[in-house]
Amino acid sequence: MKLFSLEGKVALVTGASRGLGRVIAGSMAEAGAHVILAARDKQKLEEAVQAIRTAGGKADCEAVDLADEKAVVETFARIRDQHGSPHILVNNAAAMPRAPLLESTLEQWDQAHSVNTRSVYLLCREAARGMIERKEGRIINISSYVATVGRDNLLAYSASKAGVEGLTRSLACELGAHGITVNAISPGLFLTEMATAIKDNPVVLDKYRQLIALARPAEPHEICGSVIFLASSAGSYITGNTLHVDGGVDNVMPVRDGKS
Ligand SMILES: NC(=O)c1ccc[n+]([C@@H]2O[C@H](COP(=O)([O-])OP(=O)(O)OC[C@H]3O[C@@H](n4cnc5c(N)ncnc54)[C@H](OP(=O)(O)O)[C@@H]3O)[C@@H](O)[C@H]2O)c1
Repeated sequence: MKLFSLEGKVALVTGASRGLGRVIAGSMAEAGAHVILAARDKQKLEEAVQAIRTAGGKADCEAVDLADEKAVVETFARIRDQHGSPHILVNNAAAMPRAPLLESTLEQWDQAHSVNTRSVYLLCREAARGMIERKEGRIINISSYVATVGRDNLLAYSASKAGVEGLTRSLACELGAHGITVNAISPGLFLTEMATAIKDNPVVLDKYRQLIALARPAEPHEICGSVIFLASSAGSYITGNTLHVDGGVDNVMPVRDGKS
């Protein structure tokens, strides 16, 4: 058995039109999976699919707004009919409305929760049917360091990501006896479009460097190893966990004083 191979598996990756989802999809295809990329931007999805195929991988895409409950369920049914029920589900898409409490709106709250938590629940439910039948499945939900540490301006996002981690643990309990593992990955600061407001602000970026044990933000490809690990036979006895891929943010407090 090849420990990190995804040969013969169908994997659905949401939020794969750019950022971490796109590199995750590419690395899963490299590991042998037939990857279905989902997000709203059809053109970017098609470009990503083409790049994977050019590199010799197998990929298709589905354009879907994950905030739309009906569209999520219909899209999943189409994927199942065309490619078979996925062996691996990576819930990676997310919306990140930014606002301090008093300026925040219910619309922002609902946006964060519909994309980041409700669509995760819906896709887990739809994907679990096929996984239960097959007695095998891997669900990986992408959370965030702010689910653990909290952060100003991101209240709806951090609450939705804490929800993702709670959902992950409960589904691990419920689905484990069916041979399905359910884990979360909690990324730290990765230099993607989502991190533009930090990337473009040298003062804030420097603050982040001070808070990160490895003293730097991550490059997008640094997420891939954790996903392949949890999706492949290498991760067969791991469930209900949140794996922190954050350079040391959630559990550390770098002082870097050298004396005190
Ligand atoms: N970057 C970081 O520093 C960081 C830190 C912690 C956690 N994370 C988590 O890592 C994951 C990936 O983040 P990223 O940095 O790659 O973000 P990103 O560059 O903003 O990409 C987000 C992805 O989600 C998709 N998406 C957003 N709203 C959607 C909707 N309504 N329906 C369908 N797809 C939607 C976007 O595609 P379309 O616009 O084409 O729909 C895009 O592909 C997220 O779960 C995020 O919370 C990121």
